[in-house]
Parts: sequence; structure tokens; C-alpha cells
Amino acid sequence: MIDAEEIRLDDDSVDGVLCRFGFMLMPDPEAALAETRRVLRPGGRLVLAVWGQAERNPWISIAGRLLAELDLVPRPQPGEPGMFVLAEEDRLRGLLESAGFGVERIEEVPVLLTYDDVDDYVAAANETGGMFARIWRDASEEEHETIKARLAEAFEPFLVDGGYELPGVAVVAVAS
Ligand SMILES: C[S@@+](CC[C@H](N)C(=O)[O-])C[C@H]1O[C@@H](n2cnc3c(N)ncnc32)[C@H](O)[C@@H]1O
Repeated sequence: MIDAEEIRLDDDSVDGVLCRFGFMLMPDPEAALAETRRVLRPGGRLVLAVWGQAERNPWISIAGRLLAELDLVPRPQPGEPGMFVLAEEDRLRGLLESAGFGVERIEEVPVLLTYDDVDDYVAAANETGGMFARIWRDASEEEHETIKARLAEAFEPFLVDGGYELPGVAVVAVAS
């Protein structure tokens, strides 16, 4: 794997870069963006997607909040990477510009995630990996039941015929 924060490629050697839901998880997104700009040819485009604010992404932030309330996950410290750290358009634009990019556009893209029931949600979250999967793996049977009960309660506003529809918002930037 090439580390985005230290890309072992020549300057101006890449035509385009596409990165979905990656930059916000890197410890130093500014370095990663500067490296991306360095390897992109002049005029080459970067298209990236990050997640919007937590409260607009209940499909994942509800589970994150419940796990924190149950003391199963350490609360994030300021400056740490995380799903929502590049959610603010101004911050994202600032990072892109200070990495040498000209921003063509930044726009929100709504998403809707559907689940048959809480078990389906848990299975999907485990398949995706990440924080939920790590906590679930280490949790006891009793904790699994508690998590599922709390999710069922919190997901009630999102009940539809045949399951849940949980909304979210991605933020997509195009820069060159
Ligand atoms: C949430 S996943 C997204 C995966 C995929 N792009 C998608 O949209 O399904 C985040 C990805 O970022 C990658 N990643 C995190 N830090 C990275 C880094 N410093 N350099 C390269 N990739 C990194 C991880 O390996 C992981 O595959």
C-alpha cells in the first residue's frame, strides 16, 4: 500500500486522484493533500469524498454516540483523525488551498442507507470494519444485546415499511 502522507511517486506523475472516505482518517490530512498535489500533473484533478457533520449522518453517528455512552469507546480527542473531522466546508477548502490546490467545487451529496432490522445494521457495520466492528468483536454477549436494544430504540424515528432508512450526507470536493 502507498501511504498517502508519503507517496513514493515522482512529481507531476499522476493524471487524476479519486479518494472516497479516506482523507479524514489520516493523522495528517494536510500532508496527504500536499503529497497528492505534488504527484498530480499540473491541471490534474483530485476528487474526494468525506463525511459531513455527525448530526447529519445518523446512519453512523447514532451508533458512535451509543457506544460512547456505554463507555465502550474512548471519546475522540481534539485533532485526532475521525469520520467527521473534515465535515466543515471551510476547513476542507482551507486544507486544499494550503496544499496548493485550486478548489473547483465542494458540494453535499445526500445518501440513504437501508437496513432490514437491527441485526442487518450490525452485520453491515461489522462487514465495513472500522470502529464499530472492533468494539463489537471485543464486546460480551450481554453488551451485544444492550447495543442492539439501544440501537432499536434510537432508530425508531427512521422506521419505514420493511426496515430502517438512515440518512447521511457526504461532502465531495473537486480540486486541481
Ligand atoms: C473508510 S475506508 C474507505 C475505503 C474505500 N475508499 C471506500 O470508499 O469504500 C478508509 C480507507 O482509507 C485508507 N487509509 C487510511 N489512512 C491512509 C493513508 N495514510 N494512506 C493511504 N490510505 C489510507 C484505509 O486503508 C481504508 O482503506
